[in-house]
Amino acid sequence: MKNYTIAVIGLGYVGLSMAVLLAQNNTVYAVDVVQEKIDMLNNRISPLKDHEIEEYLRTRKLNLTATFDSQAAYAKADYVVIAVPTNYDSTLNHFDTSIVESVVSDVIACNPRATIVIKSTVPVGFTKSLCNRHGHHRIIFNPEFLREGRALYDNLYPTRIVVGFDGENQELRVAAEQFAGMLSECALKAPVDVLFMGSTEAEAVKLFANTYLALRVSFFNELDTYAEMRGLDARQIIQGVCSDPRIGNYYNNPSFGYGGYCLPKDTKQLLANYRDVPENLIRAVIDANSTRKDFIANQILQKAGYSALCDAEKIVVGIYKLAMKTDSDNFRHSSIQGVMRRIQQKGVSIIIYEPALVNGSCFMDCDVVNDFDEFVDRSAVIVANRSDSKLETVASKVYSRDLFRRD
Ligand SMILES: NC(=O)c1ccc[n+]([C@@H]2O[C@H](COP(=O)([O-])OP(=O)(O)OC[C@H]3O[C@@H](n4cnc5c(N)ncnc54)[C@H](O)[C@@H]3O)[C@@H](O)[C@H]2O)c1
Repeated sequence: MKNYTIAVIGLGYVGLSMAVLLAQNNTVYAVDVVQEKIDMLNNRISPLKDHEIEEYLRTRKLNLTATFDSQAAYAKADYVVIAVPTNYDSTLNHFDTSIVESVVSDVIACNPRATIVIKSTVPVGFTKSLCNRHGHHRIIFNPEFLREGRALYDNLYPTRIVVGFDGENQELRVAAEQFAGMLSECALKAPVDVLFMGSTEAEAVKLFANTYLALRVSFFNELDTYAEMRGLDARQIIQGVCSDPRIGNYYNNPSFGYGGYCLPKDTKQLLANYRDVPENLIRAVIDANSTRKDFIANQILQKAGYSALCDAEKIVVGIYKLAMKTDSDNFRHSSIQGVMRRIQQKGVSIIIYEPALVNGSCFMDCDVVNDFDEFVDRSAVIVANRSDSKLETVASKVYSRDLFRRD
């Protein structure tokens, strides 16, 4: 097994899991702009909560150095794996790919022999246009399908490895095959399905896969809205629907909407890519998520006793945890925040119980109250996207649509 030198740029969920995975068999330089992350990783402490990453850092012999010095890392690298953010820019209506672009320019200037692997999610057609712009074709797009919090696990047991590259260049083909080989060799699952395709098709795979997940979440949420409005048992309906193996009894637990870093922005980017192409469904998925949050906010306000004539400020809604999933402390772009904004617009007060935040601090202009008894006493209604055994004794105050206690 050949040992390659790999620079991984960006130590978020994607980059960190890649760095740990690849450092089992290769020499990895992990680059970030945040000193704290570099120091933690060099002391074998995970900068992110992820059980498998924590365990691998503690117990495995990894050839992994975290560094601030991107130029030194590029210069040594056979492969540069880019895992920096691509946030959705709602003014420009597409991803802000400027960080990816600046890393690519720097790598080409510093070490044009290195194969660049883009793992950041990018608009459909991005890699090809970047290659053309630079007249440089050693760029591969390798979409990432991990779940936050299970990032390394999902790379140890990948559902598939998709590698996108363009043209007939033999060296690039070999580099793409070698990279896929490295990912497979570092995985625990064998064999792993590897799919080679054009970079534009690979970019489309990533956005369509996430939009399908968003569609599925939205479908069961809309079913649940219907059931709640009509006074029906959503659990029975979902069980009946999902007994058909073509539909499947999984990923069907109602929630307050899809959220997290990827689904909201990836669906919007796919819709932007549809410009000039007929569509109804992609836009509907995005709209459905917003409608769901409107509905949930209204249900909460009703349960809390809100009316147009009431003294809204005196009503206190308690938010029980901000994360999307049980056992997660990651709440970036979680759907509850959209629900909170809607409740705030009515002038209703909100307090938050969230052990990942400091008691007495403030989040979205709401007080964090981590004394559970005080939180319960002060809340007219307790809102939980995912329920918890801790809430059993106060069930009559709780509003949740977590019917199956999973996902
Ligand atoms: N989080 C996911 O579940 C997931 C899944 C699949 C794909 N993706 C995609 O992968 C990309 C990264 O996602 P993430 O969740 O890991 O992001 P993240 O925001 O958690 O981490 C990005 C990291 O990049 C660092 N960074 C920013 N600018 C940098 C620079 N110039 N040089 C070096 N480091 C820099 C940041 O400090 C941060 O540590 C995004 O495009 C995202 O859409 C994310």
